[in-house]
Amino acid sequence: AGQSSDSPSNSGDQFSSIGFIASAIGSAIGLGNLWKFPYIAGKHGGGAFLIVFVICLIFVGMPILLAELSIGRGGRGNASTSYLKLSGSKLWARSGFLSIFASFLIMCFYSVVAGWTLYYTFTSFTGSLYESTNFSEHFSQFTGSYGPIIWQLIALLICLAIIMRGVSSGIERFNKILIPLLAIVLVILMVRSLMLPGALEGAEFFFKPDFSKITGESVLDALGQAFFSLSLGMGAMITFGSYVNKKQSLTAATLAVSGGNILYALIAGLIIFPVTFTYGIEAGQGPGLVFAALPAAFEAMPFGSIFGGLFFGLLAMAALTSAVSLLEVNVAYAISKWKWSRARATYLITFIIFLISIPTSLSMGGILGDYKLWGYNLFDLIDYVASNILLPISGLASTLFAGYVWKYAAEESGLTPLWQRGWIFLLRYITPILVAFVFLYSVGLLNI
Ligand code: PFF
Repeated sequence: AGQSSDSPSNSGDQFSSIGFIASAIGSAIGLGNLWKFPYIAGKHGGGAFLIVFVICLIFVGMPILLAELSIGRGGRGNASTSYLKLSGSKLWARSGFLSIFASFLIMCFYSVVAGWTLYYTFTSFTGSLYESTNFSEHFSQFTGSYGPIIWQLIALLICLAIIMRGVSSGIERFNKILIPLLAIVLVILMVRSLMLPGALEGAEFFFKPDFSKITGESVLDALGQAFFSLSLGMGAMITFGSYVNKKQSLTAATLAVSGGNILYALIAGLIIFPVTFTYGIEAGQGPGLVFAALPAAFEAMPFGSIFGGLFFGLLAMAALTSAVSLLEVNVAYAISKWKWSRARATYLITFIIFLISIPTSLSMGGILGDYKLWGYNLFDLIDYVASNILLPISGLASTLFAGYVWKYAAEESGLTPLWQRGWIFLLRYITPILVAFVFLYSVGLLNI
């Protein structure tokens, strides 16, 4: 235990302060903000859900985020060896390994969806997307065909090219360009959206709290979303934490990532809801909202193929910066565990992810669409196991580890003594209980 030198997975290749924050934001902001958040907010009645989400983010998300960043920087290893170095216990290292496995599984369907976003970006700019007359049929036809395999391969190759270059000239440089670009496109789209006739109605739906819609289910959805959206429980923040030096304030990073995360989710809502209200699209319709429903609005809008292309391009960029962090979790592990070179680790892992994501993609209505296990197709099964089982368990592990096991957590966090006490209190008595609730609820052992 104790402080050791740099992790062999980065051999001194580190983030700058800006690069670290940009990359952590890049990991956090992803499909979760722009695709998932608007539809679950729509489902749970907009504004009231937003308030619950922000509360969950502050009291559960931020403490765990700071814990994971601290574990990474303190342990200076990958998501598994960091635990080992700080505690000397193999059991904790195994719980860390669980998060690495979760990130591997998530990557096997996240890359599929990243591929869809690339396809929609491309076909929106060329206009061919709008040749279809029924967009939801188009969506299921596309996702059920072989086409997405090519697109997910492109998404994976982009991630590969970045991860190959390492931490500072790969991940950091990519995020330093994409995050500001993302912000610019987001603002352009928001301005466009707010000029639509249904803008007021959409914004009102998004912001006006209707507390009668807040049920136990919506609270747990908000917690789960806060968790996923901050990239917790997947080793990403631990891995990134290990690439930053002691001068970096982890508190500032936590604030920036959480604040940025809320901001992007808010703007995503301000883009999507004015569009749904203006073009009469059902806002609470679920996962198909952005792919199956929004193209109709872009089709009806002047210069819609450009705005549509920008919108899907935004999704693609957000998805790629997150996917890069997921891949890095695995590559960092392989480099230190098997002493592989970065190139070898990146090629092999990307290849395996690609192989597994082929059946994942084909289970979305393609030739494997009829194969179900416990009622789930492969895509949903992987999502379920990773998001509902592995994620809460490894999130629980990082909370308990920083709260009870690792004595120097408070010191590493860099918080002032008063805040340290509040943080440790949350980690000990509040976040583990809430995360445990989410877990029991999502595996069906708790009914509300
Ligand atoms: N935070 C990402 C999103 O909201 O889409 C998803 C994610 C990326 C989770 C990377 C975990 C992770 F390691």
